[in-house]
Parts: sequence; structure tokens; C-alpha cells
Amino acid sequence: MGIAIAIDGPAGAGKSTIARRLAAKLGFTYIDSGAMYRAVALWALREKLDPSDRHRMEQLALAAAILLEDERVMLNGEDVTAALRAPEVSQAASVVATIPGVRRALVEKQRAIGAQDNVVMEGRDIGSVVFPEANLKIFLDAATEERARRRTAEVNGDREQIGRQIRERDERDRTRAEAPLTQAPDAVYIDSTGLSIEEVEAAILKLVRARITNGKEFR
Ligand code: CDP
Repeated sequence: MGIAIAIDGPAGAGKSTIARRLAAKLGFTYIDSGAMYRAVALWALREKLDPSDRHRMEQLALAAAILLEDERVMLNGEDVTAALRAPEVSQAASVVATIPGVRRALVEKQRAIGAQDNVVMEGRDIGSVVFPEANLKIFLDAATEERARRRTAEVNGDREQIGRQIRERDERDRTRAEAPLTQAPDAVYIDSTGLSIEEVEAAILKLVRARITNGKEFR
């Protein structure tokens, strides 16, 4: 088992940006676990399958060859990085993510990566389910309005609509029976609403020095 840093939180809190920067700084592997749920959802939409069909979705999750390579996501040999960010894929991903069999299959893939590499992994259940023994757990949050603003800037869409979609997805993620979005009891809560990316990164690096590298700089 390598070193694991878990970053969980709702959509648009800044997890991807921060996790990517931390991984680069520390020389760890960056893993976007949400990309795996998105990849299964994309495959389902392309095959015109119902994302709430438990049996079919579990089959897809087990069969999917998902490779995360730096900034790119490969699904069954195809680069699907851009397609994964479409709003309909976000919504379908959160439906697919309620299915226990899908979660089992993807958590297994995530743990296999963590067994080999030092990782910064982001998602909803990394500190609570995937790596309950993670060396550092962060719960990264931000006000709903701020999260909608950030996501709108990112995808260039309608702010009202994006705000509605984020709220709907948060609700589904927080209330599902299996591995809901929650803060692990030993996670450090960071509210990024009024903070710059640099400030959030500095706060987390301070925790890394205190808890993982024993006061030393990294690498
Ligand atoms: O980037 P954003 O925060 O908008 O979403 P994401 O991290 O790509 O995750 C997409 C969806 O996958 C979420 O809304 C969750 O329903 C699901 N997900 C999950 O259930 N567990 C994870 N570890 C990661 C994502």
C-alpha cells in the first residue's frame, strides 16, 4: 500500500484542480475517481441503456477498461476525456453511482491503483470507503453559489441551469444508501469559498508536512 491522500467533497469545490496540483508537487499519481463513474455513464448513454438499470450498469462497470493517464481518460481504448465533461454525463454518472454493484467494481479498480502507487485520489467516498486508512483526508467544500459560479466559468453554460444540476446531483450523492457523500470523522474540513487555489494548496501542504513528511519538504 502506497501513501494515500483522499480529497472528497461536492461538485465544483475545487477537488480536481487541487488534487492535480498536489500530486504534481509531491510526485504522486493523481486519480480522479469521478472519471470512472463518468466513463461508465458515457458508455451507457452511447449504448442507449438506462443508467438506473442495476444489472446492465454493473456489467458495464465490470467490463469497462478504464485507464487514467495524467490528464487523459481512456475507455476501452478510446480517449474520452472531453466527452466525459458533458452535463448529461455528469447527471447520468450520479445515477450510475447509486448502484452498489457499480461501486464495488470501481472501488476495486481504485484500490488496485492505491496498492501500487502513492496517490492523491479525489471523489466522494475516498476517505470513507476506498481508503479508510488514508494518510491524510480532506473534505473540500464551498458555498453552493460559488460552486455553481466556478462550474459555469469552466463549461461556459447557463449559470441558473448549472446551479440546478449541481444541487440535484449533490442531493443524490448525499442521500444515496451506498457510500453517500459524507465527511469522514478524521477528515480535515476546508471551506474554499473565499480562498484562492494557492491558499487551499498551501493549507493542505502544511498538513502533508505535519502528518506525512515529518516537517520535511517533499519528494
Ligand atoms: O467533477 P465533479 O465534482 O462535478 O464530479 P465527479 O467527481 O466527476 O463525479 C461525478 C459523479 O460521480 C458524482 O456526482 C458522484 O455521483 C459520482 N462519484 C461517486 O459516487 N464517487 C466517487 N468517488 C466519485 C464520483
